[in-house]
Amino acid sequence: MAGYPAWDQDSARTIIAGLAHLEGATLPMLHALQDAFGYVDPQAVPLIAEALNLSRAEVHGAISFYHDFRTAPQPARIVRLCRAEACQALGCEAVVDDLAREHGIVVDAAQAGDAAVETVYCLGNCALGPSALVDGELLGRVDAARIAALCRHGRAHS
Ligand code: FES
Repeated sequence: MAGYPAWDQDSARTIIAGLAHLEGATLPMLHALQDAFGYVDPQAVPLIAEALNLSRAEVHGAISFYHDFRTAPQPARIVRLCRAEACQALGCEAVVDDLAREHGIVVDAAQAGDAAVETVYCLGNCALGPSALVDGELLGRVDAARIAALCRHGRAHS
């Protein structure tokens, strides 16, 4: 589980103030905020701009230029489901369909909250597909029920 605290404007302000003395402090601030909260809330933009005497557009520009900054809270768990060729041959698209139809889980739908399922292309577990990666653990022969259970319960062996 990611386990990040909810965005807190006072904590964000403290983090920003603690780094304001650095040369080129924008990126260290953004990284520190993402480390603390799992993402950079849009509310950070005016705080950083003010602390560094930049325009808000400049801060926005830094966030969007570097693709590793997230601007929305992440789900507590992300299940990565392989949809590359070998796993397709072993039925991963049926898993995707069943997830939507039977469990109301839409793969690759942007969502915050408890869990999300994202497409990846090959996890190196091709013979045992459909494959999934959850909390660093590689799973083989997954079906929709197992993925849905992972999304609900937060344990790879549920
Ligand atoms: S194609 Fe799915 S693990 Fe390789």
